[in-house]
Amino acid sequence: MALKDDILSELTANGFVSGEYIAEKYFVSRNGVWKAVKKLRDEGYDIEAVTNKGYRLVSELNKISEGAIRSGLNSDWSFVILDEAVSTNNYAKELAVSGKKENTAVIAETQSGGRGRLGRVFYSPKGDGLYMSLLVRPTMPVADATFITSYTAVAVAKAIEKLCGHEVNIKWVNDIYMNGKKVCGILTEAGFDFEGGTLDYAVIGIGINVLGGEFPDELKTIATSIEKESGEKVSRNALAAEIMNNLSNIAEGITSKEYLKIYRQKSNVIGKRVHVTYGNETFDAEAVDIDDNAGLVVKTKDELRTLNSGEVSIKL
Ligand code: BTN
Repeated sequence: MALKDDILSELTANGFVSGEYIAEKYFVSRNGVWKAVKKLRDEGYDIEAVTNKGYRLVSELNKISEGAIRSGLNSDWSFVILDEAVSTNNYAKELAVSGKKENTAVIAETQSGGRGRLGRVFYSPKGDGLYMSLLVRPTMPVADATFITSYTAVAVAKAIEKLCGHEVNIKWVNDIYMNGKKVCGILTEAGFDFEGGTLDYAVIGIGINVLGGEFPDELKTIATSIEKESGEKVSRNALAAEIMNNLSNIAEGITSKEYLKIYRQKSNVIGKRVHVTYGNETFDAEAVDIDDNAGLVVKTKDELRTLNSGEVSIKL
């Protein structure tokens, strides 16, 4: 990690930090510290210097920063931070296939080809959102890999609520909603070891509308942002760290199935009339439950059916 990222971690975690302390801790000269602070200022961070006290981060700028994320993490991750990616999922999948180790986060300020489920585009304007793909390699059978998406939905929901203090819901399978509109989508892609019947890697793509709240016409009625709904300018760095912390033990978390309680509690479809798209079929039904396999149980006029994939929209 570059000295400026170390300094950013110190400032994010500690309030005032003296140049002398940083110089001693990281074996650099005071002039080296000053130059690194200048680089951070050039990047846009507002850092004040007060005689006899040291440096202090006045405002964490609206910029994704490895140092700021690291300061909130309680486990070990590698990072690729990009100004722009076509899709962070594409990037992370390439890393996975080339053998990159687990727990690598790819985060971009904007995406030119952000992808959603079912071939949709994910709108990814610069600076407003968190566009993050986590390359993980939990040890689990292929059959359990399908739980990663619902597990992530709970991890993201908890993180958003903690940082903005506003309740969120989960629309089966994996969309996070605030006040009836979508703030986050999740796209999980995986590679398998066919011989062993186990998961080789999963790339968990998470797109969250954090700041701002202006959307193109076609999204205006369905999308929103955390800031728009809660009034809070949540730090994208703090949010990334919180989500990564919540995802630090995926295999154990999925095995215990405890998370499914929250997944059910936060569901905004149970008890609602829904329009179902399931493979080539479309039909109306009532959503009645989420089962222990995270499948949505729906009641049509003739029968109870359990959906393990597909999509539902809530009928008003
Ligand atoms: C959906 O809403 O259907 C899923 C959206 C997933 C978007 C995220 S943004 C980061 C990662 N990169 C992508 O191209 N997609 C995911």
